[in-house]
Amino acid sequence: MDTWESLRAECLTCQGCSLAETRTNVVFGDGAEDAEILFIGEGPGQHEDEQGKPFVGRAGKLLDDMLEMVNLDRTKVYIANIVKCRPPQNRDPLNVEQDACIDWLRRQTALLRPKIIVCLGRIAAKSIIKKDYRITAEHGQWFEKNGVQMTAIYHPAALLRDVSKRPDTFEDMKSILAKAKELCEHTEF
Ligand code: URA
Repeated sequence: MDTWESLRAECLTCQGCSLAETRTNVVFGDGAEDAEILFIGEGPGQHEDEQGKPFVGRAGKLLDDMLEMVNLDRTKVYIANIVKCRPPQNRDPLNVEQDACIDWLRRQTALLRPKIIVCLGRIAAKSIIKKDYRITAEHGQWFEKNGVQMTAIYHPAALLRDVSKRPDTFEDMKSILAKAKELCEHTEF
């Protein structure tokens, strides 16, 4: 069985796909190791690659603000990505890269055993919730898989590009807080 320490150490040396050749740092994940809510992004950008932490650039700042607006913050959740290494020029991670990387997220999820999973954007939702997930039509809806409640919201980078999506996301965040109050046992919200 993994521990957080052994899993992180193993992941930091991963050579599972060609993104390993261009990365500065593996972005393993960040947050409370007993969090009951797991947020899943797509993959590291430039700042994340430089610092080895998820969501530390402009999109990350917006994510922090969105979390704080509903009394969630990074100390109460865990944040990880579908791929742990930066795709060059911030392109979408290829299927072959997602497939090579997904086992790290599976093992993180097995350690965390979250009550709630929140996908950030279309790529994570397609990988985690269902292949034909449509973010515009289905953001904020709840799905149940293996006893875990799952939803997706617009990716913070999409909210930077298109502020008209923000009110919907605020509603989705309130729904996440309500679900957290209902299901989470040891986190104070
Ligand atoms: N976008 C993501 O999907 N993940 C990050 O960690 C940063 C930006």
